[in-house]
Amino acid sequence: MTAVPRKKSRKGGKDTAKHGGSAANALWGGRFAAGPAAVMEQINPSIGFDRKMYRQDIRGSIAHAGMLAERGIIAREDARAIVKGLKQVEKEIDRGKFEFKVALEDIHMNVEARLNEIIGAPAGRLHTARSRNDQVALDLRLWVRDAIDEIDRALERLQAALIMRAEQHAQTVMPGFTHLQPAQPVTFGHHLLAYVEMAGRDRGRFADARKRLNVSPLGAAALAGTSFAIDPAATAKALGFDTAHANSMDAVADRDFAVEYLAAAALTAVHLSRLAEELVLWGSEQFRFIRLSDAFTTGSSIMPQKRNADAAELTRGKTGRIVGALVALLTVLKGLPLTFNKDMQEDKEPVFDATETLLLSIAATAGMVADMKVNKQAMLAATSGGFINATDLADWLVRKLGMPFREAHHTTGKLVKLAEKRGVALGDLPLEAMRKVDPRITRDVYGVLSVEASVKSRASPGGTAPGNVRLACKEARARFLKARGRQA
Ligand code: ARG
Repeated sequence: MTAVPRKKSRKGGKDTAKHGGSAANALWGGRFAAGPAAVMEQINPSIGFDRKMYRQDIRGSIAHAGMLAERGIIAREDARAIVKGLKQVEKEIDRGKFEFKVALEDIHMNVEARLNEIIGAPAGRLHTARSRNDQVALDLRLWVRDAIDEIDRALERLQAALIMRAEQHAQTVMPGFTHLQPAQPVTFGHHLLAYVEMAGRDRGRFADARKRLNVSPLGAAALAGTSFAIDPAATAKALGFDTAHANSMDAVADRDFAVEYLAAAALTAVHLSRLAEELVLWGSEQFRFIRLSDAFTTGSSIMPQKRNADAAELTRGKTGRIVGALVALLTVLKGLPLTFNKDMQEDKEPVFDATETLLLSIAATAGMVADMKVNKQAMLAATSGGFINATDLADWLVRKLGMPFREAHHTTGKLVKLAEKRGVALGDLPLEAMRKVDPRITRDVYGVLSVEASVKSRASPGGTAPGNVRLACKEARARFLKARGRQA
C-alpha cells in the first residue's frame, strides 16, 4: 500500500495539496498541527454542493444574530454589523463575485470567513450559542421548504395544463385500457383528469411533509443545547417556523423531513413516468392518438422518418434518479448513532439532484400536455376492435331483461364469440343471430352499442360521461388552481 500523501503544515514546509489553502483550518484548526491529506481535501468538503444553500444559511444567521442581540448575548452594534456584512456576502454570491474556498469546507465557514474579511472582529461573535450542526440542519430545512413551495407551484401548472386539455376533450372518445387491452370506451378528458387527481395527492404529500418539517432546529447547538440564554422560539418565528424543536439531539440528528420530501418526490416521479409512458405509446405509429410537438421531440441521425418522444422518455427514465435519491438517503441514515455524524453531509446531493430533476420533469410534462395534438379520429377508430362495448351489452341485458349480471355476462360472452366467428363488431350482428342466443333480445339493444352512447351512459359519480368530465374540470379548477385565480 502506498502512503497517502499528507499535506504539510505551513511550519513543516511546502504546500503539496491539490487544493490551495492553509494547513490547519482557520475556523476549527486550533488543536491541529498538520494539514489534511490530499484525498481528505477531496472527500471532506461539501462546498461544491452545499453552496446551493447560501441564501438559507444567511437567512438563518441573520435571525440568529438578531436573537443574540435581543437577549443581550452580543452587542446590538455587533449584530448590526453582522447583518449588514451578511447581506453584502449574499449580494456577492448572487452576483457570482464570491470566491468559494474548498479549504473552508462548507457554505457555513465560507460565509463566516468572508464576513470576517468584511467586518472584522464582530464576525467572530456570530457563532456564539450555535454549531454547524444546528446550522446545517436549519439550512437544509429551509432549503427543502423552499423547494416544496416551488414544486407545489410547478405541479399546479401541470394540473392547469391537464385540466385545460381535459375540458377540450370532454367528449373525445378513446379506448380505456386494462392490461393494455381495450376495455371500455372512455373520454380522453376523463383519462387526463386521472392525472390531475394524482398530482393533487402528490401536492398533498408535499404539504404534509412541509407541516412536520416546519420546526426550527436552531438553538440545538452541537447536540445538547447551550449555556447561553437564547430564545429558540424567537428565531423559529423569525424564520417562519411553526415552533422550535423540543429536543436538541433530535433536532441535529434526524433528517426524516428530507426523507419524507424525497418520498413525495419519488411518488410524484412515478406518477409522471406513467403519464410519460402513455405519451410515448399514444404518440407511436401504432396508436397515433397524439402527436407531440416539435418542441418536445427529436429526430434520428440515421432514420429520417423518426420523431422520438425524448422528453417523455427522459421523464420516464429520470424516475430512477429520484427514487434512487430516496433510497440513498434512507441508506445514509440507517443505523446512524445519535447525533450528528459526518455521514449526514451525504444528505444534500440526493435532495438537490432529485429537486432539480423533478422540477425539470414536471415542466417538460406540462409542456408536452399543453401543446400535444390530439387525433380524435384515431382514438375513435381504436374503439372499433376488441368488442369494447361488451359491458354495455351485458348491462342492457340486465336492465331490459332483468337478467342477473352473471348470466348477462355469460350471454354476452356467447354473442362476442359469435361476432368473432363472423368477423364483425357486436353492433353489426343481425338481430336474428342475437336472438338465437337469447330470443328476448330486441332491436332496442343497438342503441347502447355505439361508443358515444356507452360513454354518455357512464354518468355515475366520478364516471367518464362527457357531462361529468365538464363538471369535474370545473371542480378541479376550484380544488386545485386556487393560487392561479382558478384559470388554466
Ligand atoms: N458540511 C456539514 C454537513 O453538510 C456541516 C456540518 C458539519 N458539522 C460538523 N460537526 N463537522 O453536514
